[in-house]
Amino acid sequence: MEIIARNLSKNYEGKTLALDNINFNISMNGIVAIIGKNGAGKTTLVRILATQLLPTRGSAFINGFNVVDEADRVREIIAAVPQEARAVPWLTPLQTVSSYLMWRGLSYRESRERAKDVLRTLGLESVENEKNRKLSGGMKRKVLVATVISSDAPVIFLDEPTTGLDYISRKELWGILQSMKYNRLIILTTHYLEEAEVLGDRVGILDRGKLLAFGSMDDLRRIVKYPFSIKISGDVKLNSINGYLKRLLNGEIQIFSTQEEIFEMASDLLERGIKFTVQEVSLNNIFEFLVEGGVED
Ligand SMILES: Nc1ncnc2c1ncn2[C@@H]1O[C@H](COP(=O)(O)OP(=O)(O)O)[C@@H](O)[C@H]1O
Ligand SMILES: [Mg+2]
Repeated sequence: MEIIARNLSKNYEGKTLALDNINFNISMNGIVAIIGKNGAGKTTLVRILATQLLPTRGSAFINGFNVVDEADRVREIIAAVPQEARAVPWLTPLQTVSSYLMWRGLSYRESRERAKDVLRTLGLESVENEKNRKLSGGMKRKVLVATVISSDAPVIFLDEPTTGLDYISRKELWGILQSMKYNRLIILTTHYLEEAEVLGDRVGILDRGKLLAFGSMDDLRRIVKYPFSIKISGDVKLNSINGYLKRLLNGEIQIFSTQEEIFEMASDLLERGIKFTVQEVSLNNIFEFLVEGGVED
């Protein structure tokens, strides 16, 4: 599957610049996680790609079809769950999924059969005839995910599908998304950095309408100056090196630097018998560097 964005910009009512010259080429199956704070432009980007909103400038293509000029063709290959979507409370999961499929053009019978299959796959079989309003928040969200999976669309957009869910429900949804990603391209937005790091085969970082970075976790680590870190208890005397120092809430300090400097520091600590841990930077760290302008020197 392929999505291309070229100089994509969006001004709402000629004022707010919600997207500022976005460019990317995605050509893969798997999960692309778009992260960013509230107001970063995630929903605007998804709505433009999903043909629900017109860009002010620039263009985008899904599998070669222009999302503006060939929106009908694009709609045949995509399925989307908008950020504000809620399962209709007085329908059952079976009715929700099968009516969505009928709306997409399947027969009544085919829709019901396929809906039942998908609900079984997602572990919703036992509640398929309950009213949605009786389901837990996590299950309601799964019903929405069930609709887009059932469509067999090769390109799926999920705008903050896990926001507000408890940790267990979020992890269940992660499992579902991971199991369905192999023959599809899933564009998922989130403001949970851990979620993007776990799920994203590629991660895009949006901030104030700009795409600050896009790539695999390894790609993102390559663009930060200090891709390695070491954690030690706060009262150890250290040689000074180039990098950042961050005081953690648990009293430890974390030092970010190059691989060479961190490994050197590690061997010094090893000789002195001091406990430490070494790790590659997390998406959280990268986000801090790029969006929040780094930490103390
Ligand atoms: N319909 C709209 N009219 C005017 N401004 C909007 C509208 N939708 C979003 N915005 C603004 O555009 C920016 C990006 O919003 P949005 O795409 O919803 O970000 P996110 O999904 O990352 O929270 C924000 O400043 C927001 O206030
Ligand atoms: Mg949003």
